[in-house]
Amino acid sequence: MEVSSSILSEQIRDGLTTRWLGQTIHCYDAVDSTNLLAIEMAKQGAPEGTVVLAEQQLSGRGRGNRSWHSPAGVGVYCSIVLRPKMAPAKGQLITLVASVSIVKAIAHMTGLSPQVKWPNDILINDRKVAGILLESRVSGAQIGYAVIGFGINVNNDSADLPEDIGAKASSLLLELKKPVDRSTLVIEIFSELERIYDIFQHHDFSLILEQWRHYSSTLGQRVRIWQKDKATEGIALDLTEDGGLLLKLEEGKKVVVHAGDVEHLRII
Ligand code: BTN
Repeated sequence: MEVSSSILSEQIRDGLTTRWLGQTIHCYDAVDSTNLLAIEMAKQGAPEGTVVLAEQQLSGRGRGNRSWHSPAGVGVYCSIVLRPKMAPAKGQLITLVASVSIVKAIAHMTGLSPQVKWPNDILINDRKVAGILLESRVSGAQIGYAVIGFGINVNNDSADLPEDIGAKASSLLLELKKPVDRSTLVIEIFSELERIYDIFQHHDFSLILEQWRHYSSTLGQRVRIWQKDKATEGIALDLTEDGGLLLKLEEGKKVVVHAGDVEHLRII
């Protein structure tokens, strides 16, 4: 196992229970983006399970060209190189694998009740505590590599949260009212992620979809989905086999959306 000397990575190495995930961990004090670094490593042939962790990101990337606020020493900023033997159409399921793993680990460690907002935001009490960013490259008929990155607001106090989404963001510390050990959290996530990803690799998607539905805060809600400047409103009926969201529109027509930013609308 390759690790830097940071306390975070040493504690993770000592507690790791996985077979292949995290056999190589690159841990940095500060990087632009762990996803960017992991993509570079994937291009150079890094094996499945290679991890990039940082104490701070200077240009953390979020979905839709947004940034991910990544202050030093309080959050988890982590990216993992994956090489799924899978058709590109199944790629979106990797984000479901990661969301379910993160939700289960947070619930188990804190006793809180995190939920997944489609496609891949983790909320506690309706506030975002974690986000997931999947970046992949197709090679022929398969996914060549996929980098799954996640950022978790762990011990952020209010001043360490992004200003732009203000009241919509939170952290485990703020929700639990006590700090959470980041290394233990990462160890728990890796253990869940390895187990659920192995199921995914065996093309057994039903359990993953079932678990995602269980933790979903979106299903059953009236939602507005933004795709660029276009908004679609409807009731979120279900998750499809490939991770899309099945919507029932006002006029009764059903459509599937595969990407977008979701607003949960209150029914008045
Ligand atoms: C989102 O909710 O928009 C996704 C945020 C993903 C942030 C993580 S932090 C680790 C990894 N490196 C990045 O640059 N982004 C992801």
